Amino acid sequence: MEETILILDFGSQYTQLIARRVRELNVYCEIYPYHKIPESIEHIKGVILSGSPFSVSDKNAPVSDLSALRRKVPVLGVCYGAQHLASHEGGEVEPSKIREYGRANLAYINANCELMKGITIGSQVWMSHGDTIRKLPESFDIITSTRDVEVAGFKVRGERTYGIQFHPEVYHTLEGKNLLENFIVNICDCSQSWTPASFIETTVQSLKQSLNEDKVVLGLSGGVDSSVTAVLLHKAIGKNLHCIFVDNGLLRKNEFESVLDSYKHMGLNVRGVDAKDRFYEVLKGISDPEGKRKAIGGMFIEVFDEAAHEIQDVSWLAQGTIYPDVIESVSVKGPSATIKSHHNVGGLPDFMKLKIIEPLNALFKDEVRRIGRELEMAEAIIGRHPFPGPGLGIRIIGDVTREKISILQEVDAIFIGGLKKHKLYDEVWQALTVLLPVQSVGVMGDERTYENVVVLRAVGSTDGMTADWSHLPSEFLAKVSNEIINKVKGVNRVVYDISSKPPSTIEWE
Ligand code: XMP
Repeated sequence: MEETILILDFGSQYTQLIARRVRELNVYCEIYPYHKIPESIEHIKGVILSGSPFSVSDKNAPVSDLSALRRKVPVLGVCYGAQHLASHEGGEVEPSKIREYGRANLAYINANCELMKGITIGSQVWMSHGDTIRKLPESFDIITSTRDVEVAGFKVRGERTYGIQFHPEVYHTLEGKNLLENFIVNICDCSQSWTPASFIETTVQSLKQSLNEDKVVLGLSGGVDSSVTAVLLHKAIGKNLHCIFVDNGLLRKNEFESVLDSYKHMGLNVRGVDAKDRFYEVLKGISDPEGKRKAIGGMFIEVFDEAAHEIQDVSWLAQGTIYPDVIESVSVKGPSATIKSHHNVGGLPDFMKLKIIEPLNALFKDEVRRIGRELEMAEAIIGRHPFPGPGLGIRIIGDVTREKISILQEVDAIFIGGLKKHKLYDEVWQALTVLLPVQSVGVMGDERTYENVVVLRAVGSTDGMTADWSHLPSEFLAKVSNEIINKVKGVNRVVYDISSKPPSTIEWE
């Protein structure tokens, strides 16, 4: 089994960030809820305890029994994780009198401590906590302090157990990466061998073993997750992988043809299914966003199921599910664990009776992209923005008609084409256009017009959970707006969406 760093999640907003930082060091890690310690710890080389929105003195504060781990493997508590370690052994944790949020600087460092090796006095760290460790248990030694926080870090004597009050995973802790490297490489002795190449090798090997001569069906969407899944499976089982790519009529302009073509060039055994008319028929007259989602999702299952049944003796369904879809997240409202809803996972009905295989379900999106690059897949697929399953259907506010789809496809092609031409496409997480059910007055030549309004939206994000609107250059926006109004019949007004998520969402529906 892969050597692993275990991250115990106490509900911090930064837990996933810790995982990404560990993986950037080419070390595999997994996030577990604080109360679910894996039974077998043979492959675990070290443990990181995350922060938490709770205070250790809260009545329902999350408490982890670390007896199976302490003194066996190194442990690093971050923020709440550190307070948890200290208070468990009789240390005193109190609400801090001064605000300990934001930047601070390390004023004292024990240079002999392995965790602090190479970290410089004065180094900026990021604090984000309401409590402070007032008094350490007798067997704990201070390893670093800031001017205001004496116990900014500690080590337990005779153990490789450490705690730090600040967050090494955030960008604002300037030497956070060095500190994590000290812990993971020097203290936990991880070999840093979890690379894209090693992931591909072990995944292909294990797919070969578990699938043998079995046939697998996979729904391709044109996106990076399903495409990388396909290429990995293709490497493992070749022609026994049967891909289905459904044209729901809600894709971008010419996308079905161009993506199908590139899949064929990659040697994939892929069948394109033109089901546009069936989707348009079922969408007729539906304006409610969830109603549209249901209609599109239901029709997708129907079409996919029919196509899959044409393949003889298929026994597996492959899906491009990624790690954020399956992490059991710790609810901050209480200790009960909730599973995040599978936002981007189609989900197929039971009657298909297929076994599920999800080769990417331990990876973050940026890691899927790294794997795709290692597999030498085309940048046009690897760097593609996320695109929702219901496609343009949820970007046309109100009911969906062929005419509206064709207007939005033209508008979208100009915006996305412009972003690519001006080298802005890779600068944003996702860009999209929305057709509003609103007409506005305009003038063209000597004529008064009364036509559609479209929205341009571009956001920066790392996972789609939170997002900020992109500050695209105004000259670029002006150019695109001009081109849309001049070229797309039926549009006389373009607006730019400047809302962030939360409180808005990325899509309008
Ligand atoms: P929101 O709009 O919730 O979107 O901020 C977050 C991310 O999810 C995508 N999205 C969907 N993907 N089916 C999907 O497969 C959906 O129904 C759906 N709704 C939103 C959205 O494009 C963004 O990347």
